[in-house]
Amino acid sequence: MLDIVLYGDPILRRRAKPVKSFTGRTRTLIKRMLEAMKAAKGIGLAAPQVGVSERIIVISTNGEDLALINPRIVGQEGRQVDIEGCLSFPGLQGEVPRSRQVVVEAFNPLGRSVRVTAEGLRARAIQHEIDHLNGVLFIDRAREDSLHWLVREKERDEEGKPRYRKVRTTLEEVEEFYRRMREGN
Ligand code: NI
Repeated sequence: MLDIVLYGDPILRRRAKPVKSFTGRTRTLIKRMLEAMKAAKGIGLAAPQVGVSERIIVISTNGEDLALINPRIVGQEGRQVDIEGCLSFPGLQGEVPRSRQVVVEAFNPLGRSVRVTAEGLRARAIQHEIDHLNGVLFIDRAREDSLHWLVREKERDEEGKPRYRKVRTTLEEVEEFYRRMREGN
């Protein structure tokens, strides 16, 4: 299983390189990215998050997988503001404004050009992952007073599901937290 890199790793701030040839190596990487994303219960993942600085993203919403290579947003419309998280920031959430609908041009894993229109959550995920390819992270776009940790409560709810409470945080605290996490203490 591929490891997902955490905030603070310099690769997350680098601009990823375009993919120039569509080989089995790219398709294998995409398969492994989808696997790692699903294991971590995410809905999107960008190649830099698995240590590969190339312009590849995967998305899975409503059970529908999508892999886009060299994606470009060619149209966007409307606005949505909602809670967002990122697999490179476990436990952190914030409110991020995004376009409600996007049109994206990209290549599929076979090297054919595709045009995808998405809205709502799927559009949000695509915008978040394309940001990763440019070294932009959701904390850069989140309203700072909306950043919070999801802290698991000791007691579960009536259905036995874990319950979470939100604890406000700041960018400084976020930096410190993941620095310690990377150093393993
Ligand atoms: Ni992310």
